[in-house]
Amino acid sequence: MNALVEDSSWSVLRRDGVAVVVAHPEVGLPLVLHWGQDLGELSPADLRALDSATSRQTAPGTLDAAWRPSLLPQESDGWSGRPGLLVVSDGVTLYPRWAVTEAERDTAELIVTAQDAHLGLTLRSHLQIGAGGLVLLRHELLNDGPTVVDVHWLEATLPVPRSADHLTQFTGRWPREKVPVTTAMPAGSTARQTRRGRSGHDAPWVTLASSGTPRNRAGEVWATHLGWSADATHRVDHLTEHSTLLGAGELVRPGEIRLTPGETYRTPVTYFAWSAAGLDGVADRFHTWMRARPQHVTSPRPLVLNTWEAVYFDHSPAKLERLARRAAAVGVERFVLDDGWFHSRRDDTTGLGDWVVDHDVWPEGLDPLAGLVHELGMQFGLWFEPEMVNLDSDLARAHPEWILSNPAAVPSPDGLSFRTQYVLNLANPDAWEHVRSQISTLVAQLGIDFIKWDHNRDLAEPVHVGTDGAARPGTHVQTRAAYALIARLKADHPGLEIESCSSGGARTDLGILEVTDRVWASDSNDPLERQDIQRWTSLVLPPELVGAHVGPSPAHSSGRSTDLSYRVATALQGHAGFEWDLLTCTDDELVAVAAYGALYKELRSLVHTGTMVHADTVDPALRVTGFVSPDRTAGVWTVATVASPRDALTERVRLDGLDPARRYSVRVRDEAGAAKWHRWITPGWLGKDAMDIPGSVLTGVGLQLPTLWPMQALIIQVAATTPPE
Ligand code: GLA
Repeated sequence: MNALVEDSSWSVLRRDGVAVVVAHPEVGLPLVLHWGQDLGELSPADLRALDSATSRQTAPGTLDAAWRPSLLPQESDGWSGRPGLLVVSDGVTLYPRWAVTEAERDTAELIVTAQDAHLGLTLRSHLQIGAGGLVLLRHELLNDGPTVVDVHWLEATLPVPRSADHLTQFTGRWPREKVPVTTAMPAGSTARQTRRGRSGHDAPWVTLASSGTPRNRAGEVWATHLGWSADATHRVDHLTEHSTLLGAGELVRPGEIRLTPGETYRTPVTYFAWSAAGLDGVADRFHTWMRARPQHVTSPRPLVLNTWEAVYFDHSPAKLERLARRAAAVGVERFVLDDGWFHSRRDDTTGLGDWVVDHDVWPEGLDPLAGLVHELGMQFGLWFEPEMVNLDSDLARAHPEWILSNPAAVPSPDGLSFRTQYVLNLANPDAWEHVRSQISTLVAQLGIDFIKWDHNRDLAEPVHVGTDGAARPGTHVQTRAAYALIARLKADHPGLEIESCSSGGARTDLGILEVTDRVWASDSNDPLERQDIQRWTSLVLPPELVGAHVGPSPAHSSGRSTDLSYRVATALQGHAGFEWDLLTCTDDELVAVAAYGALYKELRSLVHTGTMVHADTVDPALRVTGFVSPDRTAGVWTVATVASPRDALTERVRLDGLDPARRYSVRVRDEAGAAKWHRWITPGWLGKDAMDIPGSVLTGVGLQLPTLWPMQALIIQVAATTPPE
């Protein structure tokens, strides 16, 4: 039972500074009166006062009632925005009238079961405040009637105040993921939808409502994210007569979710983060929640070398062995062999689907390389793209019927090729088992520690033919089958880590991260692009889950040349590694690379367990990213330029998150290369030795930056020299 309220007309969920207050009316579904700051302990009288304070008038020119939208808003709530549920039976829209049959409550959790006995529908809504104050909401719909019911959508929403007058959504492209776009809050009901069968480079990612334009460290922000790796709807309903609703749900196509009697549809989880401390407050809720998950990786994140940009498809065992030795010599701890190792895979037109080693290129198999990598003390990783198939593969020749496509589209699905590849219908149990068994065999044989799991195309016309012979949209079952395959491989091979890559960062959501251990944020290793890609990826994902590699200069994805010091400082912001042919490095570069490896290992526990802070700077050329230990005794910042600083006197940067009552030593870590600036105006604190300085100066006054050149970065390390007062 809810510990706080005896009166069963209310549920008060509280955790980590957040409260959700729900009223249980005598008729119909619960109403969310409040989602936001913790309101303290509330007696039934307080709750009646809250109810009264938030009750609405029967507005002129609206339905004759003072209804408030329920946990699943519908027209019978007096709601004319996008409904939370759309179900159809025999071509007719159903309008459920819910009667709550059970409400299970705990201090931070509420599970409501409601029925419409006439229509034969049961709804189960699960609302929870997780660690860090992150709110999770998911619904289930059970068809317990006698006829088939088509679910067109079932989405989760929560109310935000009308003071949220700006909306931020994300877009992007390969290799420039997660670009925020902020506008005034649009009027009416707005649905942002994607139909790529994966999240996509332009995924909605997070929808942010904010009072004013969102800032890093201040202001109220309400965020939502969908834990689902395929088609999605992000929605905001800004009607003149209601609270604004923010929400998201799976986008299902007509006929995709057909519930026969007894069947249930379970939505993905929609996550909601409220913050009174700007975007950093949103990130803190997501990171705290992610880090509290039982499956969260806690071992030191190994320094990686991934071979893609080093050799592409040009696999030579001798060269790759030399590269492995070179990697180990500079401190690499995980060596990952990318695309190009399997049957007939000489370029990206062949081989997908045949997960057996190519003996023309690897006459002795991969055993000698995997053995050497292990002998050198590194983990061995291998690239797979298990959900895909090339027509030029033994698999497609043997089982053309396993391709996920519309069988009615004659003569062939060629027009729907994407990187000359097709999607394997993993919802077909035989196809699923074929892929599982080939991968599992190699994992066991080679002692694979890590899989880079790629997904390099959108799904288009994804028609799945079920065991009943009926053709239906197949994205939902495909996505669930992929999750199940990853989960099974991990269960069968304890300790195996899996990275979610999708042409870079096109699949980085919390759905795929339930079964994977990190994401590849982008195919861009250009540090300038990466500064922002990583910043917005880490709005949801803590840095230990975000792959960030040092590439060569010029960058392969952009042609931009940058200093090694800038590249390493940028890769320090995530789970670091190299995407570089280290055999081509000069002696000086190798010294710097090795120094960087040592620095990363020294600082990684701070970066990977710390609180992320982003200063609100005035100069658009600056990116200030910090990681502060939970006890505030240590911190590390990267201060990077993405263009020429605007002013002759660059601004001072406050090191937010430190304890003003302590003293700290501050020093610049430049062993992997020094940032460049006009030296004749060097500020005093940038001298050779560490400086001792009060925390109050660092947090309240800040450090005067030098006039850095464009595309330069300082790594600033801070350590407490005194205990707290
Ligand atoms: C995708 C990935 C790259 C690389 C290639 C291999 O593009 O994002 O990192 O693995 O595939 O084909």
